[in-house]
Amino acid sequence: MKNLDELSITDAVLQSHAGTPDSRTKELVDSVVTHLHAFAREVSLTENEWLAAIRFLTAVGHKTDDRRQEFILLSDTLGLSSLVTAMSNRKPEECTESTVLGPFFLTDAPALSNGGDVAQGAPGELCFVSGSVRGVHGEPVAGARIEVWQADEDGLYDVQYEDLDAPRARAVLLSEPDGSFEFRTIVPRPYPVPYDGPVGEMLKTLGRRPVRPAHLHFMISAQAYEPLITQIFRKDDPNLRSDAVFGVRSSLVCEWTRHTAGIAPDGSQRETPFTTIAFDFVLAPVRI
Ligand code: BEZ
Ligand code: FE
Repeated sequence: MKNLDELSITDAVLQSHAGTPDSRTKELVDSVVTHLHAFAREVSLTENEWLAAIRFLTAVGHKTDDRRQEFILLSDTLGLSSLVTAMSNRKPEECTESTVLGPFFLTDAPALSNGGDVAQGAPGELCFVSGSVRGVHGEPVAGARIEVWQADEDGLYDVQYEDLDAPRARAVLLSEPDGSFEFRTIVPRPYPVPYDGPVGEMLKTLGRRPVRPAHLHFMISAQAYEPLITQIFRKDDPNLRSDAVFGVRSSLVCEWTRHTAGIAPDGSQRETPFTTIAFDFVLAPVRI
């Protein structure tokens, strides 16, 4: 039997994986072990630090239930979700970039006709959103399924309220034959990711803020195109450079124009200020 020491331990663990039937599983676990051991050596990890990490991960597990996924939040705030999203969605430069899905997407959002009201009573200042869905050659994508969801002016999604009996500030609509779409909604505000758990403690320890810049979420799908999961952000948002989940991409930042009371894009007379946003989405052709 070989006497194991701090240098030979890594190879011994890797050799113990030799009988793993699935080669991808073996590749993943081999790599995790190699990197974990290299990390421990690099920082000369102490027993107390190792125990603190175990306690932290245990707390992350205890905080996780059917409604709260603290492990995904940990992945989000460490930038891992954003990295995996970027690697999984490489596409031609002219295509709209993908970014993280986040935890507030629901599969059964209410259907809406073009021009309709996404907000459905959610509090906030009126906002008109318009744009188009196109392919890389500029061809309009007709009948694209456009799912949109967002936070309200208090930075909350409908699912974060205990007492709502119907969805709001989320909807699904279809692009017109010329690829265009429009809807009215409310202006989303910046909001904090849940920070009352171990991940919030971690952010505090690191001197980080839990804030996400204001954004609208989109999931767009159409036949013959890759599905697109993305968000659009506001150019003058001071939080753009410090997104807690690293989801901002410069190509997703656009002008949100605030108008004084007057005639709105839908032709109605508005007595209060409103905002307009225009954004054109470009889908990647489906990968064969
Ligand atoms: C969001 O944008 O909804 C979100 C994304 C990642 C973590 C928390 C929230
Ligand atoms: Fe969000």
